[in-house]
Amino acid sequence: MEIFHISAECYPVAKVGGLGDVVGALPKYQQAAGHSVRVVLPCYETKFKNENDFECVHWGTVELGNYNFPFSVLKEKTDKLGFELYLIEINELFNRPNIYGYEDDIERFLSFQIATLDWIIARNTTPDVINCHDHHTGIIPFLLQFAYKYESIKNVKTVITIHNGLYQGWFGFDKLYYLPKFDLKHVGFLEWSNSINSLAVGIKCANAVTTVSPSYLNEINISANGLESLFNSVRSKSKGILNGIDIEVWNPMKDQMIEENYSIDDFEAGKRKNKEKLCEQFELDPSKPLFSFIGRLFEEKGGDLLPHAAALALSEHLGEINILILGSGNSEIETQLTQLRNDYKGNYNVFIGYNEDLAHLIYAGSDYILMPSRVEPCGLNQMYAMRYGTIPIVRRTGGLRDTVIDFGDEGNGICHDQASVADVCYSINRAVRLYEDKINFNKVLKRGMSADHSWERVCQEYIEIYNLIIQQNEI
Ligand code: GLC
Repeated sequence: MEIFHISAECYPVAKVGGLGDVVGALPKYQQAAGHSVRVVLPCYETKFKNENDFECVHWGTVELGNYNFPFSVLKEKTDKLGFELYLIEINELFNRPNIYGYEDDIERFLSFQIATLDWIIARNTTPDVINCHDHHTGIIPFLLQFAYKYESIKNVKTVITIHNGLYQGWFGFDKLYYLPKFDLKHVGFLEWSNSINSLAVGIKCANAVTTVSPSYLNEINISANGLESLFNSVRSKSKGILNGIDIEVWNPMKDQMIEENYSIDDFEAGKRKNKEKLCEQFELDPSKPLFSFIGRLFEEKGGDLLPHAAALALSEHLGEINILILGSGNSEIETQLTQLRNDYKGNYNVFIGYNEDLAHLIYAGSDYILMPSRVEPCGLNQMYAMRYGTIPIVRRTGGLRDTVIDFGDEGNGICHDQASVADVCYSINRAVRLYEDKINFNKVLKRGMSADHSWERVCQEYIEIYNLIIQQNEI
């Protein structure tokens, strides 16, 4: 089967969050399972782009209303990621260091989607399935079906995978003229609450909708930033598929980014060395339990709870625990977290920003990982943590609910129900007691370490959906 994944992110080419990790891994495992898999993303100004060799396989001009942007399709020559990688180079719009956050993001991602389809239609083979990811690619299922110029590929099946339903890519009908010509009787597919809502368009028009965990699919029927009723109405073509993790990249036995490699058989010594290194780097006390947080500092992730929860826990367990934060986001939260450094020197530290190597060392060297998310469509950090023998402390929501079971129920982590400072601190108290009970602590840790979250199993579930929608066409 020929599968196209179209996305704004793909690790290690361009990553802001979990979307990048998933699009870097799922295609690799689909290719290994015998399919022809191609990943298409915009050509940003990134290290990966500069350090690898590309060949130009197509060029043209993308029309966005009255604007014309020259574009090229660049293929990475060696397929080193385990699939064919294509970058859509539109210099005027994408030759910039960041992935998102520009005033013309709507123009950027619309041009990307149109250029991608212009190229696909110019190839001499037609893919079986196009898997779109999040709102940046949500207009593709509409264009394929209704834009006159894509008539000859209109039967290509589409899936939209929702990694985060909070971001939806809204724009006004004043920009309708950006889209290639289509029969106006279909304009209703574009509309949601008087605007064009890219994510809603994808959900309406794709042949199948997937979310990145089963619980998240249930939750967005109740709360989805205004799209609840839409999710309800497409329930019969929707499925929640829990993400996997790339167990080659995330492997404590081979990871080059950590201080000492280890396995489930010798984790105590291995984790101790990593913890010592991490504690030395951040002036923490390696003899005390270490709680870490890795992620974006936003309300969605419970980032706003961290300053208060950390201060409370550190004062209640004065000198008895360490807390380390790696992340960036809301500047107020960043400032509060930075200020805390002055009060709890030796037991608390924060690194504002993101650093892939440091993230690996934190998973390897911590005892617990904190994930107090308000919304978590899947969450990968809890799975990375468990693989590295670090016990997750999570709020029961979305994918966290599907992957972490409280140790009170013979599980692999610590769970609470509210995204509140009190719940986080209560869980930290339980974690401190568990840490003192080494036999039980190790049992919980080992349950996490031995879980199978590999993509091999999961990627088959995507193939089943592709097969299902392809067959629907033939009936
Ligand atoms: C988004 C979600 C996260 C999910 C990831 C990959 O970043 O917020 O929960 O794990 O996408 O699907």
